[in-house]
Amino acid sequence: MAESRTIGVFGAGWVGLVTGGCFAELGHEVIVRDVMQDRIEALHAGQLPFHEANLPEVLERNRDRIRYTLDPHDLADTDALFICVQTPPTYSGDADLSFVWSALDDLPRAERRQVLVMKSTVPVGTGEKVRAALEGRGLTNLGYVSNPEFLAEGSAVRDFLNPDRIVIGAFADEDGAAVEALYGGLEAPVVRTDVASAEMIKLAANAFLMTRISFINEIANVCEAVGADVVEVARGVGLDHRLGPHFLRAGIGYGGSCFPKDSLALKQLASNSGYHFQLLAAVIEVNELQKRRVVQKLQKHLGKLRGKKIALLGLAFKAGTDDMREAPSLVLASRLLAEGAEVRAWDPVARPGELMKGAVLSDSVADAVRDADAAVIVTEWDELRGLATQEVRDSMARPLIIDGRNLLDPAETRAAGFAYEGIGRPSSPFESLPETAEPETKVSG
Ligand code: UDX
Repeated sequence: MAESRTIGVFGAGWVGLVTGGCFAELGHEVIVRDVMQDRIEALHAGQLPFHEANLPEVLERNRDRIRYTLDPHDLADTDALFICVQTPPTYSGDADLSFVWSALDDLPRAERRQVLVMKSTVPVGTGEKVRAALEGRGLTNLGYVSNPEFLAEGSAVRDFLNPDRIVIGAFADEDGAAVEALYGGLEAPVVRTDVASAEMIKLAANAFLMTRISFINEIANVCEAVGADVVEVARGVGLDHRLGPHFLRAGIGYGGSCFPKDSLALKQLASNSGYHFQLLAAVIEVNELQKRRVVQKLQKHLGKLRGKKIALLGLAFKAGTDDMREAPSLVLASRLLAEGAEVRAWDPVARPGELMKGAVLSDSVADAVRDADAAVIVTEWDELRGLATQEVRDSMARPLIIDGRNLLDPAETRAAGFAYEGIGRPSSPFESLPETAEPETKVSG
């Protein structure tokens, strides 16, 4: 167990509440501050503004150690101040740091030495700029540490409490040591480094994960052309200890609140310094194309999509969350609508609202697939594992399943009477579907 300290958290969003809740779980006193009055009131009433597994329990269990406030002066008497505000992309693709700067404007003046800890994902060089700004304001009793988060939605509490590593970049050793001590009790390698390198570790780790996804998606596309199965290929590749099995699931591209924005921010960061990050640019482009490939697959089987009924099953960017930020389902729906298709959409938790204008939301999978010309699995929800039933087949106008997540077993699905196509897997002969006319061969002479 860590020696109990008092921790201030700027930002009662997803990162801030997970960070605050987990530090309280480690035995610290936590004060979370946000500028939104309704959010603070909701938290006082025990309501969370989003869904995250295990977080309600953690906050409830440590209720006596967590306070929520609007007033930054309540954070004056803390040992560490964590910045956990959003850094969305600007029009140019750079990270928008205005929330970070306004949190810094609100920093309380403390009597004793405090450490300012950056959890938000920021461009490399931010620490240096913040340090200069703080010195300019005479806040010399405030250390600065970069301590990026590596939390994935749906497993954030587990990721925080069982980290692969804790990255701590500091200008002064004593500040790094103070932050390291806050994590006492967690078993993980600690990477103590300089601030710029810590900032880069976060961006590079994300970029590498995205590179793996775009890489396996391209391998999948080649598999389709040559008759191999990417699921088998990924299994064989992933057993190489130098490569490992993670992030090798081919599909319809990555989405979410982090990957798309962080890859753009790193690409822009490099460009702003005069470097063209070719590989990352390709990773981003491959991901954009991957989202659209499902449309081509549908056209291959159905011809023109005008008037065709397409069921999109799963809307969240991944299973286990209601988050639709940068979800491939959004691109898919608008491409299908632009082709003149009728789109019916189902998700167990995500509610797209205006984001999916023109699509009809269905309450159940059965409603979505009724009379449909095709069902597309967009999110790997467990509920969809049992999709290939006789009931579903009989209710569809054409029994065609495009499996954007390779969730179903191809042989079983075909045996159940469906035409099935996954991503990067050999496709079925589609006997039941109309044949595309072959070009007439010219007989010369
Ligand atoms: C990610 C990182 O994992 C996390 O460390 C970082 O802090 C924030 O971004 P998250 O966006 O919550 O977390 O989701 P993650 O589970 O990493 O998946 C990201 C996207 O990649 C999803 O759209 C997912 O479907 C896709 N993905 C993931 C694949 O397409 N294939 C894979 O093999 C893995």
